Amino acid sequence: MEQTVQVGLGERSYPIIIGAKVLQRIGGDLQARRPGKRYAIISDARVAGLYGGQLQQHLQQSGLPVEMITFPPGEASKNLQTVATLASTLAELGFDRKDALIALGGGVTGDITGFLASVYMRGIPFVQVPTSLLAQVDSSVGGKTGVDIPQGKNLVGTFYQPKAVYIDTDVLQTLPHVEFLGGMAEVIKYGASIDAGFFAWLATHRESILALDPVRTIPMIMRCCEMKAAVVEQDEREGGLRRILNFGHTIGHAVEAASGYRINHGFAVAIGMRAVAELAVKGGIARPEVATAIRQLLEAYGLPVTIPVEFDLQTLRAYLQTDKKTVGGRVFFVLPEQLGRVRISDEVADADLDAVLANTF
Ligand code: GLY
Repeated sequence: MEQTVQVGLGERSYPIIIGAKVLQRIGGDLQARRPGKRYAIISDARVAGLYGGQLQQHLQQSGLPVEMITFPPGEASKNLQTVATLASTLAELGFDRKDALIALGGGVTGDITGFLASVYMRGIPFVQVPTSLLAQVDSSVGGKTGVDIPQGKNLVGTFYQPKAVYIDTDVLQTLPHVEFLGGMAEVIKYGASIDAGFFAWLATHRESILALDPVRTIPMIMRCCEMKAAVVEQDEREGGLRRILNFGHTIGHAVEAASGYRINHGFAVAIGMRAVAELAVKGGIARPEVATAIRQLLEAYGLPVTIPVEFDLQTLRAYLQTDKKTVGGRVFFVLPEQLGRVRISDEVADADLDAVLANTF
């Protein structure tokens, strides 16, 4: 079973190919598409150990010259120094504009490799091979690339679309369960903010999804990619509509940062979605059943809806204020009006926000 979703961006359009054992077909597909003459697989040491060898072999069997370049796993690697080191290695190997990069890994690898591809020799082609659920349903699609600097996450980056995205659902078998759940928060985000039918489908098929049954995970990932593609096609550079993909992220980012990144991104987004749903109810935008349904589905998937580590309300507020500075002095929230429909608003009463934040502990 293999599915293809097309991201329609004119001459920068590309396919997202989703299925079991897709990894084995990348060589043949690249040979047909020919985005590059030579390829460099960029991966962290952990994922390279799991899948790098076989991907390299499949490419070689398809007659494609391929190198493997690795960096240490983890968010700590997502910086300009890693990009500089990788660029030097590419230059030493003689890579030029006719060659292409392959991002094999989770969100960190995709963000670093996409950024590197966008600046190396002023831009060379790249493809995404996301191996975490979060990267498969969100970060590998849509062309956001970037690295962190000491002043904040993703503060240096570009919009740069891949030539193709290859999603192999078999790799989810080796993904730590907690990371799978983090990805599920982003999956639930799509249902809660864009598609109520999908939200209900996630509730119905919870057991088989958690058991990683490809009969469910393939259509689930496909539906998320369809929604992301539709949003990106209308607003590639986040001028407006694309901000709906940040449902749960305003408070989520503050939770993540205030915890010193001890809470993973997906879990922080789950807490953020629950909080923002309550905010919508307090503001008279949504009925209480909407917040209850969102909370119940998050809990059904074992996701946290309150902050599981200690820190105080003031710290959390301070991080929201930081966010405020970056959007012209106003905090914008993506508020649910009903399941599958959201509005972007900065009209949130301080008292409501305080009450909701206090409830996140
Ligand atoms: N992760 C949100 C976006 O790609 O716009």
